[in-house]
Amino acid sequence: MTLPDCASDLGPLHAYPTADGSFSLQSERFGEAFHNSAGARNEAVAKFAVPAQLERFGNGTPLRVLDVCVGLGYNSAVLLEALPSPAPELLWWGLELDRRPLELALTQLDFRNSWSPPVLQILQQLRAHGRWHHTRSSGELLWGDARRMLQTIPEQQRFDLILQDAFSPQRCPELWTEEFLAGLAARLAPGGRLLTYSRSAAVRASLRRSGLMLLSLLPAPGERPGWSSGTMAVRAGEPIPAAGPGWRALSTMEEEHLHTRAAVPFRDPNGTDDSAAILRRRGAEQASCELEATNSWQRRWR
Ligand SMILES: C[S@@+](CC[C@H](N)C(=O)[O-])C[C@H]1O[C@@H](n2cnc3c(N)ncnc32)[C@H](O)[C@@H]1O
Repeated sequence: MTLPDCASDLGPLHAYPTADGSFSLQSERFGEAFHNSAGARNEAVAKFAVPAQLERFGNGTPLRVLDVCVGLGYNSAVLLEALPSPAPELLWWGLELDRRPLELALTQLDFRNSWSPPVLQILQQLRAHGRWHHTRSSGELLWGDARRMLQTIPEQQRFDLILQDAFSPQRCPELWTEEFLAGLAARLAPGGRLLTYSRSAAVRASLRRSGLMLLSLLPAPGERPGWSSGTMAVRAGEPIPAAGPGWRALSTMEEEHLHTRAAVPFRDPNGTDDSAAILRRRGAEQASCELEATNSWQRRWR
């Protein structure tokens, strides 16, 4: 199945079935699938819902969520499914460029059947109206470039959970820049958690410079275990166990990665550059920096 190209630049989208049976997509323009082959839903649960520890919001504490790159909606949908009972008051914001991933997902019977009726209703309301409003929960999906749309959320708004799920930094560097990540970090509420599948040294180094403390995510079931399966970042100095459900401390190998050329950040000073300009700028900075070459780090830890 292929959906026609549209103004939003994602290019043609192709169906990409994953090993846990959940439906996903592949973007021709970005040359990447939306999820890993082990399973879209699997990945959303392991990397976003589990380390979020939603039981923290079971005592009447409101929950404020920012979903960056909503796509087919898996990350928020698994959170909604996993809310403790009684459910906390929920305030949700989503950022997404292209309407087609959610539209296409909702045409799939298996996708629709995989959610409880209230969660499916929320996904359908987002598709139809870009928002939902219930007595104790409401959400707004801001369509457009996430860099620009983030600015439209009231400045004082803070989030308990930020789900950062853009395409990989090499393919979509504009959403992994020092500036964009600092903007996300600044929105983290006390006790808040930023979660991402990315283990990139550049991303981690930018998050650390933004005042966050880094933890490493554990693999999702069925995912090939590597040296890390993603990153959880919390405000530095806040108490959090070195290991918890779905995360552990950074290893020495991961710490050393942050001192290699791979840690040179993506930069986008005005928040408007295209990916080619951001990659060129980073390449020039890497070529002139004195950090260890990343392949010698790799050889050391092989
Ligand atoms: C890896 S997919 C996200 C998968 C999604 N979280 C899910 O659960 O299905 C990346 C998404 O980023 C969106 N995207 C790409 N560039 C963007 C931009 N500049 N601003 C906002 N969204 C963008 C794409 O449309 C795509 O839906």
